Amino acid sequence: MAKTVVMDHPLIQHKISYIRRTDTGTKDFRQTIREIAMLICYEATRELQLEDTRIKTPICSTVGKQLKGKKMAIVPILRAGLGMVDGVLDLIPAAKVGHIGLYRDPETLNPVEYYCKLPADCAEREVFVVDPMLATGGSSAEAIRMLKDKGCKNIHFMCIIAAPEGVERMQCMHPDVDMYIGALDERLNDHGYIVPGLGDAGDRIFGTK
Ligand code: PRP
Ligand code: URA
Repeated sequence: MAKTVVMDHPLIQHKISYIRRTDTGTKDFRQTIREIAMLICYEATRELQLEDTRIKTPICSTVGKQLKGKKMAIVPILRAGLGMVDGVLDLIPAAKVGHIGLYRDPETLNPVEYYCKLPADCAEREVFVVDPMLATGGSSAEAIRMLKDKGCKNIHFMCIIAAPEGVERMQCMHPDVDMYIGALDERLNDHGYIVPGLGDAGDRIFGTK
């Protein structure tokens, strides 16, 4: 079983409380999602492999470290996942970006696919799927299934708030995928929203409600 890591960093906890608040407006919400994504990415990339590289400083020649092996791809689940992309790109500017469009059917809560465009060589890349919310787990589990269908093998998932139901579903359907979670909340309500959560992440990022 891959790792499930729930963040305990004080900056992440502080910023998550800020985006939970009803009175945090679109501009601050969007900016803070970006900052939290960057902090979670820092943790999610902790185990990337390094190799030695000879470098020349203004003073002398020495051996430094550089990232070894696979190139990376970031795959946001549209729409809300888009809010996390820039924060991750701040740390991994050379990553390619793929997009998977899914929305939850409001009645069944099942994910409905409407878009998929991935880097041509995504199967050879280390893939970081991003979505602020892991509720039932339907959307993220489906996005990862789509990636596996395209041959991706090294997949990591980053979210800001998760419900236990979603974590369990992901662990069951994708036991090989590491999960990095900003905060693990109590439960889902009768409409499939995370409690206490932050409401609808897509609407709050894009100001559509
Ligand atoms: C939200 C969220 C996740 C999904 C989580 O997207 O961004 O993708 O719900 O719920 P789940 O774990 O039960 O699948 P939504 O369908 O509201 O679309 P949006 O991002 O376009 O607003
Ligand atoms: N999607 C959201 O945006 N928020 C939730 O609480 C659940 C799913």
